[in-house]
Amino acid sequence: MGHIHYDKEGAKYSNTQEASDFCVRTSPLFIGFSFLTRGNTERSDFKNLSAFLSGKQPEPMIGDFGTIYDAVPNLNFTFARYMESCCKFVSLILPLKLDAFWKSIRSFADVGGGRGFMSMSICKEHAHLKAVSCDLPQCASVFDEYVKGQTQSVRDRVSFRPLDFFKDELPSDVEAIMFGNVIHDWPDETKRMLIKKAF
Ligand SMILES: C[S@@+](CC[C@H](N)C(=O)[O-])C[C@H]1O[C@@H](n2cnc3c(N)ncnc32)[C@H](O)[C@@H]1O
Repeated sequence: MGHIHYDKEGAKYSNTQEASDFCVRTSPLFIGFSFLTRGNTERSDFKNLSAFLSGKQPEPMIGDFGTIYDAVPNLNFTFARYMESCCKFVSLILPLKLDAFWKSIRSFADVGGGRGFMSMSICKEHAHLKAVSCDLPQCASVFDEYVKGQTQSVRDRVSFRPLDFFKDELPSDVEAIMFGNVIHDWPDETKRMLIKKAF
């Protein structure tokens, strides 16, 4: 798979650059939390693999996030870390691939932004942009912890706004609204409601 390099002369194995970047827990690009979390949850995808392969659909995971965050200690942190791990590649590519779009606006909101990593990744690449990462109040501490590790320039331009997208209006003081991995989670009626709120 290209993860291990063998040095014949020294008769030594070592990680390739890709393995060091993406598979080592201490690397900022580590993507393994996605697998570790999915493998360790009660509704483990791996535990249910046989049933899934034989055609049984897993129970949907979705529920009221606020209630779930309150019920499960530290879930706000572990879930946000898991989501970043799942979306690491996208967060590296999105700021570059949509270059013309990011240059055409000055501000955006990331609704359901979790720990804010997507807003920060985009603002890191585009120094003229300001962003507000919006999520349930339970995610404020998760954002605060994560933003501390960013450059001063990013810290100055990315903020957190608590909101419940079922009850509250979406920010109207920005030029674009983004939903990252949010819409697909919900039934059609909620999808329509969220998209309507964004306009
Ligand atoms: C699947 S995660 C996506 C996180 C992030 N956007 C990403 O791409 O990794 C869904 C996010 O929606 C947030 N969320 C769920 N219900 C919400 C609500 N009613 N209001 C605001 N955010 C909510 C969750 O806290 C979570 O951060």
